Amino acid sequence: DKGNHRHFMEKEIHEQPEVISHTLAHYLDFAGGVSRKLDLPFDFAKLDRLAISACGTAFLSGLIGKYWFERLARLPVDIDIASEFRYREMPISPDSAALFVSQSGETADTLASLRYCRKADIPIGAIVNVRESTIARESDVTLPTLAGPEIGVASTKAFTCQLSVLASLAIRAGVARGTISPEKERKLVRELSEAPRYAGQVLRLDRQIEKVARELAHYKHVLYLGRDTNYPLAMEGALKLKEISYIHAEGYAAGELKHGPIALIDEHMPVIVIAPHDRIFEKTVSNMQEVAARGGKIILITDKKGASLSSVETMETIVLPDVPEIIAPIIYALPVQMLAYFTAVFMGTDVDQPRNLAKSVTVE
Ligand code: M6R
Repeated sequence: DKGNHRHFMEKEIHEQPEVISHTLAHYLDFAGGVSRKLDLPFDFAKLDRLAISACGTAFLSGLIGKYWFERLARLPVDIDIASEFRYREMPISPDSAALFVSQSGETADTLASLRYCRKADIPIGAIVNVRESTIARESDVTLPTLAGPEIGVASTKAFTCQLSVLASLAIRAGVARGTISPEKERKLVRELSEAPRYAGQVLRLDRQIEKVARELAHYKHVLYLGRDTNYPLAMEGALKLKEISYIHAEGYAAGELKHGPIALIDEHMPVIVIAPHDRIFEKTVSNMQEVAARGGKIILITDKKGASLSSVETMETIVLPDVPEIIAPIIYALPVQMLAYFTAVFMGTDVDQPRNLAKSVTVE
């Protein structure tokens, strides 16, 4: 039932404050200010590496997870697209563990990668939304996302719930590995607890985002740029846009602009820059200057400080609330999803059932 929404995708975007809150509460004890103990088949303190593998949007949540595990827990992460992981014959350390991320829990390549790790005899965890799925069954521990059924082919709420689980796990790992003090843990847990409220605020930017989408629907090509955890988000934005609006889009690390994609920049290819004000914001501003100097039109998604400090002229600036760094990927996922959604609505595509795509890819 879509309720009073036009599409399941719209409904699922709007459910995010609630499902993020449920998912976080499963892994974090907000009142106590601690991450909950998990019954894991490995000890984070003893791991030398963690392998993460998944497809599509789930892969991109895993990529953001890599930044968190490495930064917060000093745990090196090897992240692969499952269809590459299963064939590339990577050496698997006996002191490693593997995490698979999947909404459906049935994705063929992700399952094959899980079985590859099973043969290598390392402990396996699965972040899944469908708890009765094959991937959940075949893993040693199921780490559920509590997103509820996701019907729209474009993954939205499952993605932000995967991020919620990964952030919580990275905190757990940091505590176990001694890189997160009790004070820092309390601070991170408090910051994460604020994610649902901020997500709700971002949903109220729908009018402005719809207006931007009306413009975007006129273009054939769009480039998304971001640094750090906004780089996977740039790729997620591009994936979402191409999958439901059929507009060609690419997501790049902003620092790669000069290494190729800048050749494409002209007034016919808008550039969506995802850049909250952080320690590398200035670097992204200089990328925007490069784009502007070539007549490129910029849509900037940032916060108040970012908006005031960026001296570059934009086609539109979407200003989000100032949020703590740990929750930025969760919060910035929303405008990216909303932009793709409204653009697809303007294009008149079948938003929930885009052509050529299936909700769960059970064949290779
Ligand atoms: O069910 P899974 O999470 O394993 O699916 C993985 C991808 O097929 C999926 O995320 C796909 O990329 C979505 N349609 C993206 O919106």
